[in-house]
Amino acid sequence: MHIPFNRPFFSGKEFEFIQEAIAGWHLSGDGKFTKRCQALLENELGIAKALLTTSCTHALEMAALLLDITPGDEVIIPSFTFGSTINAFVLRGAQPVFIDVRPDTLNFNETKLEGLITPRTKAIVVVHYAGVACEMDTILKVARRYELPVVEDNAHGLFGKYRGQYLGTFGCLATQSFHETKNFTCGEGGALLINDPQYIERAEIIREKGTNRSLFFRGQVDKYTWVDIGSSYLPSDILAAFLYAQLQAKEDIQSRRKRIWNYYNAHLGDWAASVGAQLPSVPEECKQPYHMYYLLLPTLEQRTAFINHLNAHNINSVFHYLPLHLSKMGRQFGCKEGDCPVTENVSDRLVRLPFYNDLAESDQARVVAAVKTFDCQESCVSKAAPVNARATSDDVL
Ligand SMILES: Cc1ncc(COP(=O)(O)O)c(C=O)c1O
Repeated sequence: MHIPFNRPFFSGKEFEFIQEAIAGWHLSGDGKFTKRCQALLENELGIAKALLTTSCTHALEMAALLLDITPGDEVIIPSFTFGSTINAFVLRGAQPVFIDVRPDTLNFNETKLEGLITPRTKAIVVVHYAGVACEMDTILKVARRYELPVVEDNAHGLFGKYRGQYLGTFGCLATQSFHETKNFTCGEGGALLINDPQYIERAEIIREKGTNRSLFFRGQVDKYTWVDIGSSYLPSDILAAFLYAQLQAKEDIQSRRKRIWNYYNAHLGDWAASVGAQLPSVPEECKQPYHMYYLLLPTLEQRTAFINHLNAHNINSVFHYLPLHLSKMGRQFGCKEGDCPVTENVSDRLVRLPFYNDLAESDQARVVAAVKTFDCQESCVSKAAPVNARATSDDVL
């Protein structure tokens, strides 16, 4: 039996809630399920405002609009992230300034931040990789000193914490993803979390095609009209109904994921030590939401051979981000090899193991057994391209 890298999960109430949305004759955005999801996020996280969006990508685009990014502004951002994180700002004309990551958590290297700030810096964007927090104390201290806004791309990190505080509540703005590969999903979806209330009214306008429609529905204006730039960033209430079922099942989903993560971690430590592989690092001050389990193999050749080896056992594993500074777009911004050496190194060596809410322990045992039969020495001589190692783009998200 094939073990996929990811499989969507149904918590039980998705169809019931979708039927309810349909029966209520409200299929467009901002119906009762959108409001329920937003209220749940606001209450759980203790934030000023959550707005559901069509994706994390779109929430990031909203953040760039809200921060008034204009051509020539510099945005400091990790190279080890998904293209959307930077694309949202480049769409507004920003110049990316790529920061390297730490070799332990693969997060934004806070010690390099101050050296990258210039008079043109307009924003700092952090990514909590695998839902393990960046070193927010240091990052916020530097940001405050230079009066720079911080945006958290928290695509992986919903319900993760740093020093007891939820991720997504540190920056003035934060973004979430509800893509199929995330802990909580509605297929494609996201949210903008607004911690600084000065952004709320304009965020509602940007999300509603640049109109003050939200104010109109709250009776605050007597007609609505085009008042700003914007786009259509609100999802259908059918998707919100699906998502609400998932968010309601938070305890069940998180405990399943915790079990899966702990199983890998408990069973792969000895093997990793014997072959020189690295397991994920979760600092004490971070409470992770168990988004993914990854290994860092010693070399690119070994990672390639490892993915081939698991494929031969009918198990799909995938690599993750390719360094953005070395992408076609990154090079157009003048970036080159050596700019972010840790990113270049870990990007070559990282592999993600199958991880989804109903991954059975027996299947995990098969993954672990297959990993343990991987001959790291032998693989050093094999430079073959990975068979099927390039997973579908859905997998790689
Ligand atoms: C760090 C990060 N940011 C943003 C995104 C984009 O998310 P979405 O597919 O919801 O637009 C992803 C995709 O997984 C991601 O990994």
